Amino acid sequence: MSVVVVGGCGHVGLPLALALANSGVKTTSLDIDAAKVLEVVSGHMPFLEPGTEQLLAKVLASGNFTATTDTNSITDADTIIVVIGTPVDEHLNPEPDAVVHAIDDCLPFMRDGQLMILRSTIFPGVTKKIEKHLAKSGKKLDLAFCPERIAEGFALEELSSLPQVIGARTESAFIRSEELFAHLGAEPVRVTPEEAELAKLFTNSWRYIKFAIANQFYVMATNAGVDYENVRHAITHNYPRAKDLPRAGFAAGPCLLKDTMQLAAFSNNAFHLGHSAMLVNEGLPLFLVEQIEKEHDLSTLTVGILGMAFKGDSDDPRSSLSYKLRRILRFRAQEVLCSDPHMFDDPSFVTQEELLEKCDVVVIGAPHSAYKTLTTTKPLFDIWKIAGTA
Ligand SMILES: NC(=O)c1ccc[n+]([C@@H]2O[C@H](COP(=O)([O-])OP(=O)(O)OC[C@H]3O[C@@H](n4cnc5c(N)ncnc54)[C@H](O)[C@@H]3O)[C@@H](O)[C@H]2O)c1
Repeated sequence: MSVVVVGGCGHVGLPLALALANSGVKTTSLDIDAAKVLEVVSGHMPFLEPGTEQLLAKVLASGNFTATTDTNSITDADTIIVVIGTPVDEHLNPEPDAVVHAIDDCLPFMRDGQLMILRSTIFPGVTKKIEKHLAKSGKKLDLAFCPERIAEGFALEELSSLPQVIGARTESAFIRSEELFAHLGAEPVRVTPEEAELAKLFTNSWRYIKFAIANQFYVMATNAGVDYENVRHAITHNYPRAKDLPRAGFAAGPCLLKDTMQLAAFSNNAFHLGHSAMLVNEGLPLFLVEQIEKEHDLSTLTVGILGMAFKGDSDDPRSSLSYKLRRILRFRAQEVLCSDPHMFDDPSFVTQEELLEKCDVVVIGAPHSAYKTLTTTKPLFDIWKIAGTA
């Protein structure tokens, strides 16, 4: 069995490609980003993902894995997995045709008898549209939509432990997809492509709304002078029905808001809970700044943000609310300094030591484990209550 992963040097494409290669499948990561491909074939991961650096070295040495920008690799594989990015535009509108056009570009390299698995999170109806494009091209491929459900930071462990939703219209597409994911040990869950498309968007929207209710409770409790985390402990302690009530914190990143907005667009913008969740989650940085302003005159102060990634122990800045926090603070404070122990590309960032020395107020922007040992004499604003928990 041989697989080409289109978008194979991305945050979900690369861990999947490495895991498949490690299971014995000949795997090629095809990506248009030549710099990333070069990094990967040189044995370096383009982003943080636990366990992948070692796995990359192992599968490169085994000869089971390579990365390329050469689209001819599509022709050589038995199975094509498409996992390119599917962002919403600057007005939060989905661009459902982006993935369709990318597949159209790959069509000349496809051949009869291949299995194509769509793995990007797609707008409902995209699988059907691609089926039509395939039929029009005259090429006879099996097609399935098998959404990726891993969370960044847990990719390798979750690729083999999470069940795999397989949206297949034909027996052949289902059996071939099931066989492929069996290499990872994933339990198959068979549905139609349309059910799978909604399953993925419902999953992410549900999670986004759960974070929003936690954040709204946090705002309510804080406004009432009550500690939300103490309330959450009281609610969740030995009480199974509420044990999944999340902590408060920035609900950000490349997927949750984007997929909630895809679902909103799909439901003719009548997804009121989804839009309300966006208002709460996206409003948290401003609420935090207002809390700081209750105690400090920001116009005379330097504020330091520790943690710019969208989540703890990640180096991924995509849709991170720390940047929104920075924008608000740049307008209201005298100066803003930023630092992140996992991000090295932004020359404007300073070290944690410099930040702690120069700033008057410290704000945690991402709950990196490194901050568990953080101690400072400066006023500290820490929604996650992570500092000093080591
Ligand atoms: N990041 C996550 O945690 C996560 C989890 C589950 C699902 N998803 C979904 O997976 C998809 C990919 O997300 P991601 O975070 O990996 O994005 P990403 O931007 O990290 O990776 C996408 C990769 O595709 C490449 N690419 C773009 N167009 C291409 C083309 N035409 N041919 C070849 N390569 C191309 C890019 O260069 C990039 O390396 C999205 O639909 C996303 O919603 C992401």
